[in-house]
Amino acid sequence: MPEAPVPAGEGHWTDVKQDAIVLGLLLECADDFVPGSVLCDKLDVPRAELLKRIDSLRARGYVIHTRGGQGYRLVEVPDKLGEAQIAPLLGTGELGRRIHHFDEVESTNDEAHRLAEAGALHGEVVVADFQTQGRGRKGRAWMAPRGKALTFSVVLRPAIPATRAPEITLAAAVAVAESARELGAHSARIKWPNDVECKGRKLAGLLTELRAEPDRVRHAVLGVGFNVGLQMQDFPEELRPVATSLLLETGERVARPVVCASLLEHLEEWLSLHETEGFAPVADRWRELSSTLGRRVRISGSGETVEGDAFDLAADGALLVREADGSLVRVVAGDVEHCAVL
Ligand code: BTN
Repeated sequence: MPEAPVPAGEGHWTDVKQDAIVLGLLLECADDFVPGSVLCDKLDVPRAELLKRIDSLRARGYVIHTRGGQGYRLVEVPDKLGEAQIAPLLGTGELGRRIHHFDEVESTNDEAHRLAEAGALHGEVVVADFQTQGRGRKGRAWMAPRGKALTFSVVLRPAIPATRAPEITLAAAVAVAESARELGAHSARIKWPNDVECKGRKLAGLLTELRAEPDRVRHAVLGVGFNVGLQMQDFPEELRPVATSLLLETGERVARPVVCASLLEHLEEWLSLHETEGFAPVADRWRELSSTLGRRVRISGSGETVEGDAFDLAADGALLVREADGSLVRVVAGDVEHCAVL
């Protein structure tokens, strides 16, 4: 069920904005104390008003330490996925402008499609604590234990023809890999086309689905499944050799709203760069972050199996492979298996 709407009123939104400013400053300074005088100056309020904002954040689950003379330090962010927890952490213009939170849903992609058909705007997000019918690429199931992963979908209204849709997924993969690195998974790379992995283990998967007419995309839904706080025993046995999580990569528990905000910010950055400057800068960064280029690969799942050296990304997002006999193959879909490093 969606969360109960937050009561709105002018005073309420001023408080929410001021809470967000305090949170933003505390987050920026991460491990340091922020002097109360700095917070009061930024908010342009007296000390008594600052104390109200600190109390309001504490009441919502933020753990804030105080040390006389040194100020305030944020030590814990609540691990809930409501709009109230995510929105104050967001520095985006459009992505996450509305966040629809569900405790449980069949698939956030389905819910996002429904909202988009009903007129949802570019950037509206559906996030769920648990999906009963989560799906991955090629109709596979995507399962994630309640409360330990991030499963969300973004409604996009890109001004491109359907033939260029793969570019969106590649831009999103760049964004997710950069976010993962920033959050501490420094080895995050992209396995073609859009799996984000750390040393061969999958950290996140992306699923872009279109509703399009011949000449235009009505809307796209970009679904992201990101393994945040899973321990190895939380994965099904068959996935343990090939899966990982942010917790396993960094040894640290990062609250899911922080991960969600970081992902949305990077997604906004790369999707808008794609919109303004086209695919070339996205492709350049994709190449830098790729774990597939420069490897011997085997690609199956869409007709014939292709085996050869993955040497580049084409201008339309296809993977270019040189087979043993020297012939060049453009691969537009399939499952990649990484073999030897060349
Ligand atoms: C893949 O790697 O196969 C893609 C996985 C995508 C999973 C996400 S979880 C949120 C969104 N809702 C879904 O049903 N799937 C995507």
